[in-house]
Amino acid sequence: MTIEHVKILVATMTGTAELVAEEISDVLTDKGLQVDTLLMDDLDETVFGDPAAVVICTSTYGQGDVPDNGQAFFEALERERPNLSAVQYAVFALGDMTYAQTFCRSGDLFDTLLTSLGARRVGDVMRHNASASSLPEDDAGDWAADWYDVLQAAGG
Ligand SMILES: Cc1cc2nc3c(=O)[nH]c(=O)nc-3n(C[C@H](O)[C@H](O)[C@H](O)COP(=O)(O)O)c2cc1C
Repeated sequence: MTIEHVKILVATMTGTAELVAEEISDVLTDKGLQVDTLLMDDLDETVFGDPAAVVICTSTYGQGDVPDNGQAFFEALERERPNLSAVQYAVFALGDMTYAQTFCRSGDLFDTLLTSLGARRVGDVMRHNASASSLPEDDAGDWAADWYDVLQAAGG
C-alpha cells in the first residue's frame, strides 16, 4: 500500500520536538506527502483511523517519562489497546546522554507500545543526544529524507 499521508505526533516540554517536527514536515512535504503535525495533548487512538504512516516525535523528562502533553495519549493506548496492525511508524526521540539510565526512554516506551499493538516500525529508532554538538532540528531534515527512502523501499 502506498503511503501518501504522514501524521507527526509530538510530545514536548519546551518545544524542541516541535521544531524537529517542523523540519520533518518540510522535508516530507517536499517529497510530495501530505503531512499533519499534531501535538499529543488531545489525541486518542482514533488518530490512527485513516491510512497514514506515523512519526512519533518525543522528548523525555522526569525519571525517563513521556512529556506531560503525551501522557494521556500514551495511557489511552495502553488502556484501549487498539489494533494497529495496519500502521507503519517511526520514532524520533530527543534526549540527553547525561541521563544515561533513561536516555530517550519516552521514544523507547512508544516504540514498545506501538509494536505490542501490532504496528510495524520502519527504520531504526532515531535518538538525538542534546549533549552532542548537533541540534536536533538540524539532524531532523537528513533523518526525514533517509526515512522517506526507507519507507518507499518498505512498500510505503
Ligand atoms: C528536568 C529534565 C529532565 C530530563 N530527563 C531526561 C531523561 O530522563 N532522559 C533523556 O534522555 N533526556 C532527558 N532530558 C533531556 C530532554 O529530553 C532534551 O533536552 C530534549 O531535547 C528536550 O526536548 P523538548 O524541548 O521537546 O522537551 C531531561 C531534561 C530536563 C530539563
